[in-house]
Amino acid sequence: MPTSDALAALRIISRFALASCVALCGQALAAPPLADPSGAGSGGPSGVPLGIGQPASPAQIASWDIDVAPDGRSLPPGSGSVAQGLDIYRGQCAGCHGEHGQGGVGEKLAGGQGTLATAAPVKTVGSYWPYATTLFDYIRRAMPMNAPQSLSADQVYAVSAYVLYLNGIVPQDAVLGATTLPAIRMPNRDGFSGDPRPDVLDQACMSACGK
Ligand code: HEC
Repeated sequence: MPTSDALAALRIISRFALASCVALCGQALAAPPLADPSGAGSGGPSGVPLGIGQPASPAQIASWDIDVAPDGRSLPPGSGSVAQGLDIYRGQCAGCHGEHGQGGVGEKLAGGQGTLATAAPVKTVGSYWPYATTLFDYIRRAMPMNAPQSLSADQVYAVSAYVLYLNGIVPQDAVLGATTLPAIRMPNRDGFSGDPRPDVLDQACMSACGK
């Protein structure tokens, strides 16, 4: 039975062995890290890997990394027409959102333009959302609600085109893709303003604050 001192020495040696292997052996031997052979637990504060988990693969990262910026950055290749979107919408969206986007179990998707400043504002994609690219992002990640992320990029472009058509924002013959979608100017694009309260500004005051 080794003493605890001997165990600690063994652990230190195995760490050096792993560290020099990572340094010298390159990619092939660097991953995955081995668990501590002493079984006594290693890593944590010392910075040596715990031997659990695995690096995320590029494919796994890509499946999470699907956000689209308002200006259209990161939109995938592909395209879809209003007519193709009509088919998808009827089959996979209308049951919850209504044949004409009037709403049902799901939100109302069309109409409400010009109501935001009234006593009864109706917020829809068409009346409220400032960027058409957000529609693509939202549908791609979350809809249809019963099968999120099941649509191809072409299908998302198509059904986005159809929702914009329902709102009178694109014509019936519109075909949308990575360059045409960001070029759409949404009716409420300029309807948002910054928060004027000084305490919400993202500037840390470090001295002589309020002077
Ligand atoms: C099973 C019902 C269901 C189906 C099918 C469905 N949706 Fe939805 N959808 C919802 C619900 C519920 C919400 C509200 C979710 C929330 O607010 O968290 C929603 C929200 C949305 C929104 C955001 C509306 C807003 O103003 O906030 C859009 C856009 C949308 N859905 C599009 C679609 C499209 C396009 C399809 C078909 C590909 C689809 N949905 C299929 C239930 C559904």
